[in-house]
Amino acid sequence: MSVGYLGFVLLLWFPGVLHAHNETQNCTASSPSGGYVVPEQKTYLHETTLTYACDNGFKPAVEGWWATSICQNGKWSPKPQCIDEKACVPLTIPNGNYDASTNGWYGERDKIRVKCDEGYKHKDRDTTAQCINGTWSSVPICERSTESCGDPPKIPHAVIIGKGYQEVFAASSKLQYNCKDGYSAEGAETKEIFCISGNWTEGLTCSKLAIY
Ligand SMILES: *[C@@H]1O[C@H](CO)[C@@H](O)[C@H](O)[C@H]1NC(C)=O
Ligand SMILES: *[C@@H]1O[C@H](CO)[C@@H](O)[C@H](O)[C@H]1NC(C)=O
Ligand SMILES: *[C@@H]1O[C@H](CO)[C@@H](O)[C@H](O)[C@H]1NC(C)=O
Ligand SMILES: *[C@@H]1O[C@H](CO)[C@@H](O)[C@H](O)[C@H]1NC(C)=O
Repeated sequence: MSVGYLGFVLLLWFPGVLHAHNETQNCTASSPSGGYVVPEQKTYLHETTLTYACDNGFKPAVEGWWATSICQNGKWSPKPQCIDEKACVPLTIPNGNYDASTNGWYGERDKIRVKCDEGYKHKDRDTTAQCINGTWSSVPICERSTESCGDPPKIPHAVIIGKGYQEVFAASSKLQYNCKDGYSAEGAETKEIFCISGNWTEGLTCSKLAIY
């Protein structure tokens, strides 16, 4: 195959590839069972919003008695769903998390076990919530542990390496400071600090090296 011919083929082929990559798909109608949508159409353009509500005895699978969903490249997000009014929608637990259900909602009497984020602990040792008649009962609270530490002190000419910024660090966390090039901390390039009973151990001072 000649180089010229190859170029010609690529020219023909490339626009198609570029186009296919960002072509947006329309969505098909998606009336949830046990509910209705507004507006009602056969197809919806990309980025169109529809609103839905549910018949008696049902409710949307998100907070509220009506809900919206957006057509995102051929898929509804979130998918319009009507669930039994005795079922529960997902809970938001500040500073905590739990295993999400695959269908996006929880049945009557279902329990979820909450884990608190690093540096937080369960208030009153309450770790589970239960779905009772459409609402969550005994919702666990994750409160900051008195043993955890806040963000470590900023030290001139140094950075923390190997760990992203966090507002709270768990007790016994270890962080490593590194001085920038041309600076050192008493001969060492790095120094570790530890979170002990709510305080960070002393950090380092980065001093300019004489040779620079
Ligand atoms: C798709 O990509 C092509 C080429 O990159 C660009 O010209 C066009 O504007 C894009 N279309 C959309 C809808 O983003
Ligand atoms: C989406 O629908 C519009 C209007 O009916 C149509 O022009 C367009 O070609 C459709 N797009 C796709 C990717 O099917
Ligand atoms: C369940 O909740 C509904 C309203 O949300 C209420 O009308 C009904 O009395 C409750 N049933 C029980 C057994 O608590
Ligand atoms: C931690 O710091 C606080 C205030 O800076 C101080 O009151 C407390 O005694 C310290 N705790 C420990 C274990 O050093």
